[in-house]
Amino acid sequence: MSKAWSGRFTKEMDRLVEEYTSSISFDYRLYREDIMGSLAHVQMLGEKGILSLAETEAIKEGLLVVKESIEKGEVEFSLAHEDIHINIEKLLYDEIGPVAGKLHTARSRNDQVATDLHLYVRDKGEGIVKLLGEVQVVILNLAKQHIETVLPGYTHLQRAQPVSFAHHLLAYFWMLERDKERFRDSLQRNNQSPLGAGALAGTTFPIDGERVAEILGFKRVYANSMDAVSDRDFVVEFLANASILMMHLSRLAEELILWSSAEFSFIELDDAYCTGSSIMPQKKNPDVPELLRGKTGRVYGNLMGLLTVLKGLPMTYNKDLQEDKEFLFDTVDTLEASLALIGPLLQTLKVNVEVMYKACIQDYSNATELADYLAKRGLPFREAHEVTGRIVLYAIEKEKFLLDLSLEEYLGFSELFASDVYALLSPVEVVKRRANQGGTGFSEVQRQIKRAAEVIEG
Ligand code: ARG
Repeated sequence: MSKAWSGRFTKEMDRLVEEYTSSISFDYRLYREDIMGSLAHVQMLGEKGILSLAETEAIKEGLLVVKESIEKGEVEFSLAHEDIHINIEKLLYDEIGPVAGKLHTARSRNDQVATDLHLYVRDKGEGIVKLLGEVQVVILNLAKQHIETVLPGYTHLQRAQPVSFAHHLLAYFWMLERDKERFRDSLQRNNQSPLGAGALAGTTFPIDGERVAEILGFKRVYANSMDAVSDRDFVVEFLANASILMMHLSRLAEELILWSSAEFSFIELDDAYCTGSSIMPQKKNPDVPELLRGKTGRVYGNLMGLLTVLKGLPMTYNKDLQEDKEFLFDTVDTLEASLALIGPLLQTLKVNVEVMYKACIQDYSNATELADYLAKRGLPFREAHEVTGRIVLYAIEKEKFLLDLSLEEYLGFSELFASDVYALLSPVEVVKRRANQGGTGFSEVQRQIKRAAEVIEG
């Protein structure tokens, strides 16, 4: 069959050009959205009397048959038919004959592909929000089991102050919550229909764009047909949101990698989520979190790629825009696969509560308590900090920890010390006492868990 646009041409297309310009090898993934858009379009054409009832019904039925055969894997898409839009039209033609040609009345592939993408981004965006919610539930459940598990909290990757493990985990819960908000927020802006924009300027047919929008579940029609066909902001937003999300997952992945090293030994990843080494028999490698971290690079790259494609494009549709899809598809695949793994990875990991606790005991991350103790007894905080610094130095020299120093030793630094100081120095106590709003104190973590549960319940 000849090309959809062959009328104007006198020569056959060069084969390399055909390969170079075709997008069917990847945009076949939009078949569902394409058919959905076409069904809405043809329904409206029928309602407006632009097509007869018989034509409308024939096209609708034909489209459904085409959809079914694609889903059954009975269809072989053809490179010669360039993209998913023309391929489907050809399949429709094979099914119902020349009336298939009427489907494209008052429409261009430019508003068609934009519509497909809006539908796709909506579907995938909603899916990502759901997957994020599932990961949040896993984090929340793990947090619930570890309210009173203490581990060192870090700044500069140096032990800083002990914290509740639940508190640490929940930091990720809130990151993912913001990710959900970002996807949802972007979906609001995605919520408009480009159909009716035609190639760029609209159409002379008496169409009803609002009706199409309504059938497709979009809130409104684009106010400007030129904007409608050239806009890919909604894809950029999706990729930007995805990048921020992957950055979060990558940070979590990094902690899992660190924690599972012999140097930390805070956790052990389940065998099912690790791999071995082909040369070193003892190795158990955290490949999944490493790849999560690594794949963040390709998701950022997809965002940069699309922004670069869009930069400097004149109005309106340019073939460059065909390059938007692979960035989007690759990001969707990466997000879906990553989000599917992170939950089970967290669910199955073993938490070495004792090791975490020991890391709190065998260091000086309770030093702030001493400074606060002295400050509460009237010493200006700066001086208290100075005195405590000297105590820590002394302890390091003596190869002792703060709990090991005798009262006499403490009194040698300040007369304000009394035996009640020891109670404050145990890591559990240190954590417990940070009970201000948003702090790591156990009671506050409980409150935080309640708040997180409310978020999940919506
Ligand atoms: N395959 C094209 C794309 O993905 C569809 C739009 C083609 N429009 C055109 N005027 N050539 O962007």
